Amino acid sequence: MNTTMWSVDKNVDKNNDYPQIKKAAQLLRDGHTIAFPTETVYGLGADATSDQAVSGIFRAKGRPSDNPLIVHIYSTNQLSDLVQHVDNLSQALIEQFWPGPLTLIFTKKEGVFSEKVTAGLDTVGIRMPDHPVALALIEAAQKPIAAPSANRSGKPSPTSAEHVYHDLNGRISGIVDGGETGVGVESTVLDCTVTPPMILRPGGISYEQLTACIGPVDVDPSLDEQAEQPRSPGMKYTHYAPVAPLYITKGSDLWLQETIVSFQQDGKKVGLLAPMETISHMQADFMVACGSEDDLSTTAHSLYDSIRAFDNEAVDIILAQSVELRGIGVAIMNRLVKAAGHKWLIEKNDPTSF
Ligand code: TXA
Ligand code: MG
Repeated sequence: MNTTMWSVDKNVDKNNDYPQIKKAAQLLRDGHTIAFPTETVYGLGADATSDQAVSGIFRAKGRPSDNPLIVHIYSTNQLSDLVQHVDNLSQALIEQFWPGPLTLIFTKKEGVFSEKVTAGLDTVGIRMPDHPVALALIEAAQKPIAAPSANRSGKPSPTSAEHVYHDLNGRISGIVDGGETGVGVESTVLDCTVTPPMILRPGGISYEQLTACIGPVDVDPSLDEQAEQPRSPGMKYTHYAPVAPLYITKGSDLWLQETIVSFQQDGKKVGLLAPMETISHMQADFMVACGSEDDLSTTAHSLYDSIRAFDNEAVDIILAQSVELRGIGVAIMNRLVKAAGHKWLIEKNDPTSF
């Protein structure tokens, strides 16, 4: 399959016609898979109402078919055709956070979506991305667009068209290049079919922002388990993973530097992923400064590109410094823990450790 790349200005203006977007939208209507930028990560889109189109997503990504996809819309007017009911809490969230990095789970209307989108569930996840190119493309396609992240399954999500090209060239019909994405981690997934609503995946909208908008919000208990400690060391499943094994570290800078040196003494080339404040006074074989600990949104923005950077270097092991579990830090740690396959290195007697 030939993969066409179209370059589009990130700030497409609604009143102009963009032949690249028209062409990409026509391909979506014809059942093709097209990658496009959103404010979180690049998505791999297909017509959510077509079995054949949605199959193309799973084929291109190598994604297990029991994992449902998020449906992307450009206008809240589409909702009444797609879901059974929008309750008051969901309405408040939509008004505050859409377009934006929040996916809401609703009870779906029967007979609208391909069963492959919802993996046979009676619910569907919907979001309106805060990206002019995504909105223009979905509007031009005049279809609800199913779109997971546009990476090969298991790899870090793509935050640039180059990442998508690297993973999916030859496997999809096209890539709309709108430059780097902004937020850098995926949307928060919130189940609005339960009371109170429950966070199923931490993401671009934080727990604190949600509770400020609608009051009590639950968190899927399995997320708590995953967030911090090696409480479930048996879990082998990795996602967002670089080629070299990645360990999350928690401890003092002195301990971290000693840990790096001891791996080096064992003949290992060590990569270090940490906020710039740490990198500035550490030494390792290859280091990536990932944002600033003073503003974790900068860490989220660079996270996946930073993880991917290690794949171009011959490192044997990657150490990734943990960040604080607040705001978007919760989403960052969720992705890091998955990239690490739950492998941690924790300083003995670390006062902040459990
Ligand atoms: O930021 C994002 O959300 C990106 C961009 C492209 O929009 N998309 C994305 O999609 O991350 P994906 O497919 O990689 O993640 C979908 C997540 C999964 O955790 C899936 O389990 C959950 O949403 N999900 C989708 N539909 C669901 C449903 N009906 N019930 C529960 N979880 C659902
Ligand atoms: Mg994904």
